[in-house]
Parts: sequence; structure tokens; C-alpha cells
Amino acid sequence: MALAIMSSGGDAPGMNPAIKKFVDYAYKQEEDTYLIYDGLEGLIDNKIEPATYLDVAGILHRGGTIIRSSRSKRFFEYEYRQKAYENLKSHGITGLVVLGGDGSFRAMDKFSSEFNLNFVGIPSTIDNDIYGTDYCLGVDTALNVIRDALDKIRDTASSFNRAFLVEVMGRDCGYLAIVSAMISGAEVCVIPETKFDYKKVGERLRAEVNNGRNYALAIVSEGTGQTGEVHKWLQDTIGLETRVSILGHIQRGGNPTVRDRLMAFAFTIAAVDHLLANKNSNKVVVYQKGEFKLLEIKDVVSGTYQLPQKYLDAIKLLD
Ligand code: F6P
Repeated sequence: MALAIMSSGGDAPGMNPAIKKFVDYAYKQEEDTYLIYDGLEGLIDNKIEPATYLDVAGILHRGGTIIRSSRSKRFFEYEYRQKAYENLKSHGITGLVVLGGDGSFRAMDKFSSEFNLNFVGIPSTIDNDIYGTDYCLGVDTALNVIRDALDKIRDTASSFNRAFLVEVMGRDCGYLAIVSAMISGAEVCVIPETKFDYKKVGERLRAEVNNGRNYALAIVSEGTGQTGEVHKWLQDTIGLETRVSILGHIQRGGNPTVRDRLMAFAFTIAAVDHLLANKNSNKVVVYQKGEFKLLEIKDVVSGTYQLPQKYLDAIKLLD
């Protein structure tokens, strides 16, 4: 029996600690391990190598993923999925761990409906948008990167009469934006999940400006597509000269935080234990209310992640 691990889609801090734990933990159980390089593209091209402890030495503290990742178009085609399956079989791989996000899990759901697989997904995406889990690897590190940027932006914002608009990642999910707005005390937060009330927020902000507020911080989630619109509103309607910072891919980098390392270990141990105890099982390890569980991949990809109500309530206070 041999186990393999791959990363797929956007990389996330925490992937490396997961890869290290995978190799070390499986080795302790006397299992052979393989690393699949370059994500689904590498699976198609048979970039599959046996792993030793040397491959994963000194990687724990590094962001990104040492086995690299990809977003594969070819994997949408059956002939390439078949090739991927044959590659796994040719190495005798009977269990696969996939570090990935929503798109990767959809691909694995399709793959597992066609071929006899035994895999476990570990939610890994800074977007924190996977149904069924309260936490995805990489989120804490990304939030700390954003917090650091926002603290610095506040320093300069408070020295001028200006508004600062910061666009954060998250794809269609406002998790990064909402948490960042809460922990930075932002005055404005715009997320895809709720309609932004320009009139109501504008009245409050203008009153505050009239009362002496001389700067403001606005967090806009990329998924809203409203960065330009909010910029114009801050300048023209609120009357604050406004600078825009799009944080971009720095949010995906950085050394994994303590939380991301510990979560990576726990997710990985749950994944390997499950693979060793089961056959033909296609699951995702999820973290719910402080506990690790396994959900069917079908249920994970058919559900939609909802932002916690307590966070939605918190930004309602900014209305
Ligand atoms: O899914 C992670 C993420 O960083 C999203 O927040 C963002 O929209 C997207 O990936 C960017 O993708 P890429 O790295 O392919 O430009």
C-alpha cells in the first residue's frame, strides 16, 4: 500500500507543514509515500516521486507548497483523468491526500465518480469558502498578512486627511474582508454576501467627517467587483481624498502561523488515519465546532459556505 499527497489550485500557507506531517506520520505507520508535483497537471504528466524524510526536511516554516500546484484545464477532459488514474495505479498508490480548495474538490468529485479512488481532501485555501468546515488551511496566515498591512496603512492614513480603500482577496467569499474589517476597526466593509447600503453608510460617514473624522479605512472584498465604485463614492460623495491598495498575492504568502501549522498537523493525521482504515472512500476532513470530522466529497461540493452570523452581525454595526 502506498499513499500520495498533492496540492491543487491556489497555494496556501500550511500546505508545507501538512506535507511534512504526511510523510513523517505515514512513515511511522510503515507506509510508502509519494509526492505528486505540480498538482493535477503533474498527476496527468506522472510527476510522481517516492518521498523520503529528506524531501520534507526544513519545510515546516515555509509558505507556499514545495510540491508546487496548478490550475489544470486538461483535467476537465476525460482522457487526461484516465491518464491520471493510470499513473496512480502504476505506482501502486492506494490512498491520496489532496490539499486544495473548492475547484480542486470539484475535480476530485468528478474523478472519483469515474474511477476507483480512495482519497481525502484537506481544505486549504485562504478564501475559507469550503462548505462544511469552519476552517481552511492558510486563513490565519493570510489574515495576519492583511492585519499587518492594515496596521501600516492606518499609520499613514491617520497622518493625513484621507480615506484608504484596501481590496482583499477571497474570490466570492467575504470571510477575509469581514474578519479584517473587524480586527482593524475599519469604517467601511463591502462583501459579496450582502448588499452595500451606500446611502445609509454615507450618511453616517459624512456625519462623522463633519464631527472631525479626518480619515477612514474601507475594506472591499475582491468578489464584489466594487473597488472602483467605492473609491469614487468615498471621493465624490463622502468628500475624502482616497488612496487604493490592492493587496493581491502577498495575501497568499508568508510563513504559516502557529495556528496554521497545528491545524495542518491535525488535518493531516485525520486524513492519513482515514485512508489507512478505509477503501474506496472519497471524503474531506472538516473542522466543525472544534472537532475534526469526515464528510462525503459529494456533500462538500454541493453545499455553499455561509459566513458565520456573528460576523455578519458585527459588520451590521457599520451601517
Ligand atoms: O483561491 C485563492 C485565491 O488567492 C483567491 O483569493 C483569488 O481570487 C485567486 O486565488 C487568485 O488566483 P490566481 O493565483 O490564479 O491569480
